[in-house]
Amino acid sequence: MEKDELTYHVPVLLKESVDGMNIRPDGTYVDVTFGGAGHSREILSRLGEGGRLLGFDQDEDAERNIVDDPHFIFVRSNFRYLHNFLRYHDIEQVDAILADLGVSSHHFDDSERGFSFRFDGDLDMRMNKRAGLTAADIVNTYEEERLANIFYLYGELKNSRKLASM
Ligand SMILES: C[S@@+](CC[C@H](N)C(=O)[O-])C[C@H]1O[C@@H](n2cnc3c(N)ncnc32)[C@H](O)[C@@H]1O
Repeated sequence: MEKDELTYHVPVLLKESVDGMNIRPDGTYVDVTFGGAGHSREILSRLGEGGRLLGFDQDEDAERNIVDDPHFIFVRSNFRYLHNFLRYHDIEQVDAILADLGVSSHHFDDSERGFSFRFDGDLDMRMNKRAGLTAADIVNTYEEERLANIFYLYGELKNSRKLASM
């Protein structure tokens, strides 16, 4: 399913969240959840000479939204490696970091990603398609207790034990 950048994801509170970053034209910023580039484009529109933006996304689909801008660097990685990449790019400190956590509309709209409630597809739910383990692997191979803990801790489900036993 091909999507253009307008339908990939519509960012929420776009201006408000970027206003909160108090962007200076020559500052250094990080968008750790680049996605459809909505927030990154808004940040870039406020940068001038000396300004820099690093955009992280672990999902290769987000690469289609890479912005052609001399102030922008795309990093295809989990943002848990933020420190390593800042060091790699000789950045000692940043002025603000934006994290728009969660899935994007794109993940729900593409049946092959296995997040959709609307479309049939294999249960996948990997944000990083190079990661080995799918959601189907987990629900079909993990012990009941381990599954119940996952549902309880990460899904905050009160009936996690019952659900894991089904
Ligand atoms: C809600 S979307 C962000 C949308 C984006 N702000 C925009 O304007 O289009 C979240 C994005 O973060 C990515 N993501 C989620 N967790 C991540 C992680 N730990 N490391 C890197 N990217 C991650 C997802 O692949 C997704 O594209």
